Amino acid sequence: MSSKTVTVTDPASGNTAELPVVEGTVGNNAIDVRTLAKQSGYFTYDPGFAATASCSSAITYIDGEQGILLHRGYPIEQLASKSSYLEVCYLLLNGELPNSTESDDFENIIKNHTMVHENIGRFMQGFRYDAHPMAMLSATVAALASFYHDSIDINDPEHRQITAHRLIAKMPTLASYCYKHYRGQPFVYPRNNLSYTENFLHLMFAVPAEEYSPSPAAIRAMETLLILHADHEQNASTSTVRLAGSSGANPFASIAAGIACLWGPAHGGANEAVMNMLDDIMETGETIESTIARAKDKNDPFRLMGFGHRVYKNYDPRATCIQGVCHDLLDELGGDQPLFQLARELEEAVLADDYFKERKLFPNVDFYSGIILRALNIPMNMFTAMFAMARTVGWIAHWQEMHTDPHFRIGRPQQIYTGPTRRDYPGA
Ligand code: ACO
Repeated sequence: MSSKTVTVTDPASGNTAELPVVEGTVGNNAIDVRTLAKQSGYFTYDPGFAATASCSSAITYIDGEQGILLHRGYPIEQLASKSSYLEVCYLLLNGELPNSTESDDFENIIKNHTMVHENIGRFMQGFRYDAHPMAMLSATVAALASFYHDSIDINDPEHRQITAHRLIAKMPTLASYCYKHYRGQPFVYPRNNLSYTENFLHLMFAVPAEEYSPSPAAIRAMETLLILHADHEQNASTSTVRLAGSSGANPFASIAAGIACLWGPAHGGANEAVMNMLDDIMETGETIESTIARAKDKNDPFRLMGFGHRVYKNYDPRATCIQGVCHDLLDELGGDQPLFQLARELEEAVLADDYFKERKLFPNVDFYSGIILRALNIPMNMFTAMFAMARTVGWIAHWQEMHTDPHFRIGRPQQIYTGPTRRDYPGA
């Protein structure tokens, strides 16, 4: 807390409220309005919380105007090109990069927890054959709490830590079970001699009848996707995890709430929308020129999916990281496949077009992630489950941070009541 204050005056009554300023290490400062209602009788009104800092956090920093994304101070570009997903997990959870012993220990711990209880597999087999993976995932993650009665005391730092490790380790297994159930293939057991990402691809695509070995470009593309989606500060699902966890709900229930929030199309569904758009263009035989013309036409609600971003008004730094990885993967898998060719031509045409340049509408991370997941043969209904798997570490890091924050209290927003005033029940 700084010594600065801001004074707010109500001209009608002349009442003033003096409010402290909260300063971060970088970025906007905030006015601490906790005593505003007591001093002035007013609450603040901020639907969507777009102008409200719900907490202080030392995990991730975003500057949308400049296209900056830092995890614990490290730029995402450097993490994506130099680090591994597990190292980023360690960083997000612990605040510092691991040394080589810590890195090995962390990897071993995670590998120790990759299997799930056999009854979890049976539980998942109970879903209808075409159940949506996000329904299966949120329900199963919530159900995990019933297997760990002895280690979900939220006030015990060791319990919090082992739960964090369990969730990071088991998400690939659970996500792959969703896919296998849908395909009607047997669940595959994790292989702890493989890297985190290679193991995930093995869980997804190995079958008992033959060997499976993913290409280096596929492993790199998946690893990069995981790193780029690991955290994104107080987005809707992370805020949901914090809010659910603020009541003292167990960590599995809190993460299940985050998964449910991510399932919404306005949050986790953008890369699916990109693929739907590309499929539509292919099916209808529209040209790139006519597609771009539609996107510019103010009388047509159509927008180019995968371009522009609510937060990043310069460029999405994650898109810059993934563009090369995406191109490499497409080159390896045959860049002349019609849909991938279309995506590359669309990207080039948009980047050269003045309408998009003037409005700073660049390809966002979802444009490339949709194409990569399609190239990796991951079906569209699994896209958001991939996102949930990657984001689990971010959710759990925020959940942990909340439980060690001295200012933490149950989340309980106010409202402006607009319903009827008091009236009597007929005959009362
Ligand atoms: N295609 C065509 N025109 C666009 C697009 C687009 N994808 N995005 C923005 N514009 C235009 C708008 O029409 C507007 O033009 P105008 O100034 O002539 O009126 C201008 O660019 C600014 O657009 P806004 O809607 O004000 O930008 P906003 O920040 O509200 O929207 C959003 C951001 C919702 C992401 C938008 O760019 C969009 O709809 N993109 C496509 C969907 C998408 O890819 N979403 C995933 C983004 S990731 C995420 O947000 C979680």
